[in-house]
Amino acid sequence: MMETRRSCPHILIAAMFLSCVFAIFYVYHSPTMNCLHCPAVQVSKHKDCPDACINHTQLINDTCAVNVTVVKETEPKPSSPSQTDTLLLIWIWPFGRNVTSQSCSWLFQIEGCQLTDDRNLFNTAHGILFHHRDIHEDLSNMPTLPRPYFQKWVWMNMESPSNSALKPRLNDLFNLTTSYRRDSDITVPYGQTSERSADDRTFEIPKKEKFICWIVTNWNPDYERSKYYEKLKEHVSVETFGDSFDRHVSDGDYPKLVSSCKFYLSFENSIHEDYITEKLYNPMKLGTVPVVLGPPRKNYEKFIPAEAFIHVDDFKTAEELAAHLKVLHENPDMYVKYFGWRERYAVRGTWFGLEHACRSCDHIRRNRNYRTVNDLNTWYWG
Ligand SMILES: *[C@@H]1O[C@H](CO)[C@@H](O)[C@H](O)[C@H]1NC(C)=O
Ligand SMILES: *[C@@H]1O[C@H](CO)[C@@H](O)[C@H](O)[C@H]1NC(C)=O
Ligand SMILES: *[C@@H]1O[C@H](CO)[C@@H](O)[C@H](O)[C@H]1NC(C)=O
Ligand SMILES: *[C@@H]1O[C@H](CO)[C@@H](O)[C@H](O)[C@H]1NC(C)=O
Ligand SMILES: *[C@@H]1O[C@H](CO)[C@@H](O)[C@H](O)[C@H]1NC(C)=O
Repeated sequence: MMETRRSCPHILIAAMFLSCVFAIFYVYHSPTMNCLHCPAVQVSKHKDCPDACINHTQLINDTCAVNVTVVKETEPKPSSPSQTDTLLLIWIWPFGRNVTSQSCSWLFQIEGCQLTDDRNLFNTAHGILFHHRDIHEDLSNMPTLPRPYFQKWVWMNMESPSNSALKPRLNDLFNLTTSYRRDSDITVPYGQTSERSADDRTFEIPKKEKFICWIVTNWNPDYERSKYYEKLKEHVSVETFGDSFDRHVSDGDYPKLVSSCKFYLSFENSIHEDYITEKLYNPMKLGTVPVVLGPPRKNYEKFIPAEAFIHVDDFKTAEELAAHLKVLHENPDMYVKYFGWRERYAVRGTWFGLEHACRSCDHIRRNRNYRTVNDLNTWYWG
């Protein structure tokens, strides 16, 4: 997506429905690194979770995507479109994924929405979803037909401003935005904690064999996170993995590895408000305490319980953080307190693209107002 420094996708996806909990991750990393392994899919088996639950990511042109053939097995036949349904046209599937048969009703309990990728339906579509990275800078792959008066164009981007290219011609083109940002029209964070339902499995802290872990596929010495790590490791040992450290973590090994760590360094590659990614939600989901570096603590607390994580800013220095982690390491009673929130909340990730499509469609169905996004570039890239 970046012209000068293309990044690859890194996303956790998880969904919970039909008594099943599925988690699928997508990974974005930089082109300088190989981007060739989809992080593992974690399937939390519930008592009546059918075997056809999603358990698969696959690599499509540098990007991890859900293997939808598995999903289709459990999905009910889509009902025939009703005249009153809102129709959302996905102009280009984010990362080339075709999952049109997915139903918003089945996945998100969103009724009255139909998704399509059939461009012949341009004139009847109430909304069109465009993924930022896929839009050509000269707009040559955008629709050329006149836009029906009722149609809303939705701009989607899950990358931070540092990781996505500003495309000058995108101003005054869209009507809605969907991204991880809370000030988007349709906010879709990388994950969510929600009240536990009776169906959710009781949480148990996984068996721990490692102290502090970090997986890095994209080492950049200029990143905040690299600088902080350099300081931290002077005071405490951090087990590093990933291609940057010549310790590749395969898809299948990812959940086992991360869950065996007491702490995981959930360090974002760039620091922006609300930019809190699967680097946080994966470890949370896997029963590991995230040590976060990213936007301020207050920002994290808008998304997840305050006691679910440790923020590097909670300490004046890396040395003080290291000392605190060592105390927790030696005092299990103190360590378990970081899981107290599990009694009340469950974690889930995001269905990349699909969730944006369904939620955008729902938004359009409920809001028939006129709206334009005038200065997308200043809003997003400041
Ligand atoms: C899911 O993946 C795991 C690990 O790759 C495998 O052991 C398991 O059999 C798979 N389950 C299904 C339902 O495909
Ligand atoms: C998708 O999953 C199915 C069932 O596990 C498998 O047979 C198929 O080969 C997978 N397809 C790809 C492209 O990975
Ligand atoms: C992968 O990229 C090639 C070359 O750009 C393209 O022809 C192909 O359609 C892409 N595949 C998918 C599934 O996006
Ligand atoms: C997506 O898949 C559906 C059904 O599998 C197919 O009918 C449709 O043509 C596909 N669309 C694209 C753009 O490949
Ligand atoms: C959508 O935005 C375009 C461009 O600003 C504008 O011309 C159009 O009237 C808007 N449509 C709606 C339904 O808000």
